[in-house]
Parts: sequence; C-alpha cells; structure tokens
Amino acid sequence: MEKNTSLFRKKSVDQILKDAHSAEEGGLAKILGVRDLVSLGIAAIVGAGIFSTIGLASFNGGPAVSLLFVFTAVACVFTALSYAQFASTVPVSGSAYTYAYVAFGELFAWIIGWALILEYAVSNMVVAISWAEYFVSMLKGFGITLPGWLTMNPVAASEAFHKLQTSGQATLTAYERLAAHAFEVAPRVGDFPIILNLPAGLVTLLVTALVYIGIRESRTASNIMVILKIGVVLLVIFAGAFYVKPENWSPFAPNGVSGVLSGVAAVFFAFIGFDSISTTAEECKDPQRDMPRAMIYCLLICTVLYVLITLVLTGMVNYKELNVSDPLAFVFQSVGLDFMAGLISVSSVIAITSALLVYQLGQPRIWMTMSRDGLLWKKFSTIHPRYKTPSFATIVTGVVVAVPALFFKMDFFVDLTSVGTFFAFILVCGGVLYLDHTGISQRSKFRVPYINGKFLIGGLFILAVGGILLYGQDTLKEWDALSASEIIEHKLLTIIFWITWATLSYLSFRYNFSSLPVAGILTNLYLMTELGSSNWLIFVIWLAIGLLIYFGYGYKKSKLAA
Ligand code: ALA
Repeated sequence: MEKNTSLFRKKSVDQILKDAHSAEEGGLAKILGVRDLVSLGIAAIVGAGIFSTIGLASFNGGPAVSLLFVFTAVACVFTALSYAQFASTVPVSGSAYTYAYVAFGELFAWIIGWALILEYAVSNMVVAISWAEYFVSMLKGFGITLPGWLTMNPVAASEAFHKLQTSGQATLTAYERLAAHAFEVAPRVGDFPIILNLPAGLVTLLVTALVYIGIRESRTASNIMVILKIGVVLLVIFAGAFYVKPENWSPFAPNGVSGVLSGVAAVFFAFIGFDSISTTAEECKDPQRDMPRAMIYCLLICTVLYVLITLVLTGMVNYKELNVSDPLAFVFQSVGLDFMAGLISVSSVIAITSALLVYQLGQPRIWMTMSRDGLLWKKFSTIHPRYKTPSFATIVTGVVVAVPALFFKMDFFVDLTSVGTFFAFILVCGGVLYLDHTGISQRSKFRVPYINGKFLIGGLFILAVGGILLYGQDTLKEWDALSASEIIEHKLLTIIFWITWATLSYLSFRYNFSSLPVAGILTNLYLMTELGSSNWLIFVIWLAIGLLIYFGYGYKKSKLAA
C-alpha cells in the first residue's frame, strides 16, 4: 500500500465515528442532559481562577477587572458555539484534538493536542498550588502552622529574601515577609535551601491515585461538589456585601486600561474548562440541542458570579492588598471575621479538589486518544486490566503535574495555560470556517448561527482603523516614538492581530464567512496579544519541543501513515 506522507493527512468524520464505535463495543451510555452538562462544566470551570488568580488580576487592574470578566466571557461565547458545532458533528471524546484532525489534518491535530496539555496538565499545577494555599490557611484556622519552607515555592522565597535585603522590611507585604523568613530558616544542603510546596505536590499525587483506581466523577458526586462550590462563592458574595466600602471602588481603574488588561491571563484562566464538556458528547442524550445551551448557561452563571465576586473583593479591601493566593478567605480575615475565613478555607479545599480531579481525569484520556492514533507511544493507551483506566498515562500525568507544583510560582503556569488555550480556541473557531467552506457543516446537527460576514468583518475593520486614526492620537504618538526594531520588539503581536483582521476581512468578503467564528478568532487573538511577548516566547519553545516529538515519532508511527 502506498504511504500517506502528508503532514496534513486528515481523518474523515465517518472514519472517526467508526473508530469510536469499534473502540467501545456498542457505545457509551447516553445519559447526560443539560443540567448534568452544566454541572460538569461548572465543576471544571470554577477552580483556582475564582479562588486564587482573581486576587492577582484585581491587584493589577482594580475593581474594573469586573468588566474584563464580561469582555472575556464574550470571547468565550463565540468559542463555545464553535465547540458546540464540532461536538455535534463529531460527537466523540477527543475534543479539540479530534476536531483539528478533521479540519486541518494531523500536524495541527498534534499541535492542538500538545496545547491541550497546557490547558489540562499545566492548569492543574495552578489548581494544586491554589488548593495548597487554602489548605495551609485552613490548618492555621485549626491552630496548626506548617513550616514556611514546606508550603511555598523556592522562587517566591528567594525573591522575597532579596527584596528584604535590598529594600528593607517595610517594603514587604505580609506574604513576602513569611516567604523571606522561610528562606532564612529553611534547612540547607550545603548552601542550598530546601524549600518546596509539599501540600501541592501531595494532593496531586493523592488525586492521581484516586483517578488511577477508577474513581469516576459520578453525576451525584459532581453535583454535590458543584453545589458546594457555588455555595462558597455565594456565601462570599452575600456575607461580603455587608462589608463593602464603596470608597474602595474609586478609582475604578487605578492602573488604567493597561492595568486591567494585564489581568487577561488570570481572568481567562477562570473561564477555562467550559470546553471540556464537549468531550462528553458521546454520552449526551441530545448533544446537538443540549451542548450549546449547556456551554452558554455555564458561561452566563460564571460571568455573573465572577463579576459580583470581583466587586465584593475589591469593595471589602483596597485592591492593593489583593495580591494573595487565597483572596476569598483573606478578605474576611482582613475585616476581622476569622470564623468566616476559616469556613471559607475548609469549603474551598473541598471545592478545589473537584477541579483537580476533573483535569487529572481529562489529561490521560487525551494522551490515550493520541496514542491510539499512533502519535504517542503505545504505552500511553495501556488500560489497567482491573481498574479499566489508562494506567500509564495517569501515572505520567500525576508526576508531570506534581513535580512542578512543588517548586514553581503560580503566575508562570497561569500565563502558560492561557496562551496555550487561546491558541486551541482560535483553531477551533477557524475549524468551523473550514467545516462551512467544505460543506461538512451540512452534516452538523448544530450550527453556529450564521450571520453573513461579507461586509460586516471588513466594515468593522475599517471602522476600527478609522476610530484609531480619529481618536487614538495617544496610541499613534506612542507608535511614532518607536524605532523599527522597538516596534518589532513591543508591537509585533499587535501587528499580527491587525494583519489577521485584514486577511479575515478579505476572506469573509470572498467566501461569505460566518461572522461569529471570525469574531471568536479575533477576540481570542486580541486577548492573546495582551499576554506579553515573554509568554509567547515560552509558548513557542513549548511548540518547538512538541514538533520535535512529532517529527521524531508521531509522523512516522501515525496510523494514517500506513
Ligand atoms: N477554570 C479553571 C480554574 O479556574 C481552570 O481552576
């Protein structure tokens, strides 16, 4: 037989459906309805974002971050519709990875699979670190204080210590004081201080062990966890409302638009996960009806909760105090309500565990799918004979998440996760345009509502450019002052954004593109450009490693190669 050597060799929808059917003998039980999907979605969405990273975003942007939540939610709605269309066209469990296999071919499928590792495994490092913060503050509530060098990352400790030495005690925040102290008293091997976030590593291993022996989030368990999570969030909102001092809301955007936008990664992180329900398409009673609804409901509920909670947090204390990893408990401590802080810590520990579980379950299954396609080593699709779980992939996930969680700072992983997930979202929105263009959309039982983009996308582009020329004098002056090399260094991402918009305007005019997926591509890309070039650089390095693995292994071993 002739070999298919194309990098863009594709799987057909029929082939995927056939593979899925033969793999699982008779099909999975179709039991999930809208309510179950919303519950699963919230189980995945509400996690470290609202419990932790919201603190940093509010610290950078002030109360106005609440508006960033709304804008980001809109970008997510466009993406959710695209996911829903794919889920109803290819109702199997590989999510964006499988979608890309259909739309763009193998190389892109691999790249998305590789980016999904960022979304699932790397985001779980954040969730584990967030869990540890609440765990430590819960123990404190019970009068148990673990040594600082066992509960933080060495980077934060050494940074705080250096700040102490260069700028003095008075400049340190409460957390930095703890961190600097941990650095001083940590046991040493030679000159090297031993500092690690033990609870974060341990909880990851424990949850992985559960996942390994086949604890599946049953509907009931997930529903209970979700109720608890929403309960904590509502408790903070309603109890906190009494302690809001409106003067804390002014200035509303203390660091201007750029301060607000510096919270993009943290805010977007809080929404990540709504896409994960698309992996259950095979188990839905009526995916084409329920999937889009469930995703939109999840996003609506979370947006309302996030906006309210941001207003409460920034209303209870000055935004400058919010650079902590357990802000929900912290604000109640700050107003002297230790009992409430304790209650919130205990329930947060349980609530965050469920998010950890969802992603620790998801990651090995993506690896398993990729391994079945021949893109990863066979071992990754080994199924445990007794527990019926992807045993090897689960262990790898455990180690891959636990070790970095012991040693690294949360912010780094937040940025990395967000850049990778934006990338996956853009490809999924682009994939819908491909489905339309090739006529595969005719088979989609749910389609993204069609609004003809022939004139709309280009028209908006012209309006935006006109608006900047007329009203954006400051921006233009800023550009004027830059040399060519500075423009490349600082504005490359912005230039890419505008070129993409211009190109999409032309293509929409030529092919009558559907406007909503195009809006999805542009809003996600815009938010992505706000992430800063160092994040992109790390992401590009990440991609390069992925491509090395693909060309060293998957390209030759892929099932489609034969
Ligand atoms: N949205 C998920 C969280 O906030 C990733 O934990």
